[in-house]
Amino acid sequence: AVKEAEPDADTELWLYDPGYTSTACCRSRITYIDGERGVLEYRGYPIEQLAERVSYADVVSLLLDGELPETPTARRQLLAALRPGALPESMAQRLHSFAPDAHPMTVLMSCVASLTALYPQWNPSLAEGDGGSLRVVYGSAAQRRTVALTAMQSVAALAAAILRHRRARAPSAAAAVVLTAIPVREPNRAPSVAAAGADDGDDEPETTFGAAFLRAAWADDPDAPTGAAFTTLADAMDTLFVLHADHELNCSTAAMRHLTSSGADVFTCLAAAIGALYGPLHGGANEAVLKMLADIGDVGNVDAYVESVKRQERKLMGFGHRVYRSYDPRAKIVRQLAHQVLAHRRTRPEGGSSAASTPGDDPLLQVAQALEERALHDDYFVQRHLYPNVDFYSGVVYRAMGFPPEYFPVLFAVGRSAGWLAHWSEMLEEDEHAATRKIVRPRQIYIGPRRRTVPRLPASN
Ligand code: ACO
Repeated sequence: AVKEAEPDADTELWLYDPGYTSTACCRSRITYIDGERGVLEYRGYPIEQLAERVSYADVVSLLLDGELPETPTARRQLLAALRPGALPESMAQRLHSFAPDAHPMTVLMSCVASLTALYPQWNPSLAEGDGGSLRVVYGSAAQRRTVALTAMQSVAALAAAILRHRRARAPSAAAAVVLTAIPVREPNRAPSVAAAGADDGDDEPETTFGAAFLRAAWADDPDAPTGAAFTTLADAMDTLFVLHADHELNCSTAAMRHLTSSGADVFTCLAAAIGALYGPLHGGANEAVLKMLADIGDVGNVDAYVESVKRQERKLMGFGHRVYRSYDPRAKIVRQLAHQVLAHRRTRPEGGSSAASTPGDDPLLQVAQALEERALHDDYFVQRHLYPNVDFYSGVVYRAMGFPPEYFPVLFAVGRSAGWLAHWSEMLEEDEHAATRKIVRPRQIYIGPRRRTVPRLPASN
């Protein structure tokens, strides 16, 4: 029998904290959460007020620069920098190397990672300096801002193009049509942040990032809503981006910081964050919620489903949160949005059945509301402080807008890219003032076999 190790004496004072439930690994000025009271603030501003009074572009300024834009010109410039424009040709080709039905998060993660090759000037590993220094390529606040906005714009442009590519589905002739439909930028031309968006041939500039994103994503969709319906959906989209913009050290932002500490370039760090977001316990939950609601199918099946959750045969997706011990403040806002959007939903959601005519008629919203009602009055959920999180109703809203479920986490990634890059920038700013950067490197408690002798294995003949 193999004798297992006792923990070494020098590990006795270590904190064993799987899941980092009570370990802080950085100090940050970006986002504050009080999980007991259900409070979320970006740089001191409550999420409820931000969702009501400002747009996503304003929130990008708040997260990245520390303050809301002070003038309309500053806001316009930011919006122009973020507008999802044309893809560089090499990126469009990379996108088209994927089957249209590949999971959109796989495609996004892969394309974002390959942006490193498109912007070699921003790759610390290629820079001269001590150990490919981050300080050489991301050395000033202005430089980091340019990099961060370019990265956010790239994520949005890729996300919009992925949806258009996906619409082509299997037939190769259709795929070719979409290839030409994706606007292509001159090779290797980095967008200028001040002038970004000006070269897109779009003479109808949108007033919010949400509207700009929907226009880009639906550019070749003959059924795309117009007029007042478009405005309602675009406003809702912009608000959803505000709600998803940051959430302190969640799994994907922790991944972003983790990789940044190793000295990797910004796009590699972003790809890792997207990978972490993909998981169903994190950003993939919105996709999982919608599948769950569709599986339940009818309000009459809610009780049986909840009982199976209580027997711990499955989880109630979109419920529970590591930090919130009360209702997620974002979920309250998304629940209201669901009602507004369902009144303007697209009549033929992609991959879905034709929708009913009033919000109350939507079977998935009915199932969601019945699930919430049931769980909020059940001891199993009450005792464990399990409430709906931001993903519980967001899938219902995205579906009503006509997005396919696999695409929901991509929408999350577009919004969250602001938070990822704000944390990246904050970390590098600290780095400027520190003598040395600390690589993130947790320790482990070794519990494997004690030292033993390698046996001489019989020779093979
Ligand atoms: N359904 C049923 N039971 C649950 C759920 C759930 N959604 N979430 C937690 N529990 C139970 C656990 O089984 C555990 O029960 P036990 O004490 O009897 O063993 C107890 O509640 C505590 O749960 P933990 O897993 O320890 O909580 P943790 O903080 O580690 O997990 C998480 C948080 C991952 C969000 C979890 O609640 C979950 O899996 N939720 C469903 C997935 C989801 O919606 N994720 C999105 C999160 S928000 C976001 O990332 C944007």
